[in-house]
Amino acid sequence: MEVTATAPGKIILFGEHAVVHGQPAIAVPLPAVRATAVVHPGRPGGRMMIIAANLARTIVVNAAPRRSDHALAVASRLLVEHFGVPLPNFYVLVHSTIPVASGLGSGAAATTALLRALSKALDITIDVETLNALVYEIEKLYHGTPSGIDNTVVVYEQPVYFVRGQPIETFAIGAPLHLVVADTGVASPTHVTVGDVRALFEREPQRIGAIFDRIGSISRQAREKIVQGDVAALGRLMQQNHALLRDLAVSSALLDKLVAAAESAGAYGAKLSGGGRGGNLIALTPPEATARVSEAIQAAGARRTILATLS
Ligand code: PMV
Repeated sequence: MEVTATAPGKIILFGEHAVVHGQPAIAVPLPAVRATAVVHPGRPGGRMMIIAANLARTIVVNAAPRRSDHALAVASRLLVEHFGVPLPNFYVLVHSTIPVASGLGSGAAATTALLRALSKALDITIDVETLNALVYEIEKLYHGTPSGIDNTVVVYEQPVYFVRGQPIETFAIGAPLHLVVADTGVASPTHVTVGDVRALFEREPQRIGAIFDRIGSISRQAREKIVQGDVAALGRLMQQNHALLRDLAVSSALLDKLVAAAESAGAYGAKLSGGGRGGNLIALTPPEATARVSEAIQAAGARRTILATLS
């Protein structure tokens, strides 16, 4: 018997970084890219093993924690400990079409798919809040001080208006949003930019606090514009949000160049998305301009693009 579960990628539309400091942010699932976990029964007497196909890694899940444990091993133990069941000897294949370490939620999605598949295979009913809390524990272990937005949007697989520590709110999308998601090809760990923004805030609390407030106000306006389907206004809010992220020193020359290329090719607006200094950017485009914007961003140096329509 084989049990499968999946979880989507995600993208942050507005409010990254400020969300760590209590401001609202907006994120949406990217169902076109997904992580999948397939649980097979193990050999009698064997140990639990996870094959992380994209990382070309075999992870042995030991009953006792070790410092070198992979996040997926820690997640598996967390699940069985939470439900008070013994560690099974399953053989689990985890694979994903979400680009790794580029701000599209690959880690949260792999953990979510794994925990869903394991709980199904163990006949455990796990409610969505418990699942979200467990995935957040893993995010905290491996990503410093995450706001929790990544695991929330991946686990709920719904657009979220997220404020740290508050119940999630979702919202309707008034008109389809055509997005080009572009990967700079530059790896930039989120915990580093989050740490740098925190240090900047400690040095200049007034100036940086005011930037966080303005980003929060953009997220609130953006939610209204998404509900109303006012894509042109959303594009302008993206431009403003990107400028504020630049003021937080989390953009880069390449991100600025790709954002400018998207806007010259006809996007309503574009901004970096996620941790910044590398990773991804998003451009909101009229449907007829999507291909042109995607080509322009690639010609300006992006490694690859994903087209997504949110509706
Ligand atoms: O790099 P990503 O897409 O995982 O985004 C992180 C978003 C931040 O606001 C920068 C950090 C956080 O934990 O919310």
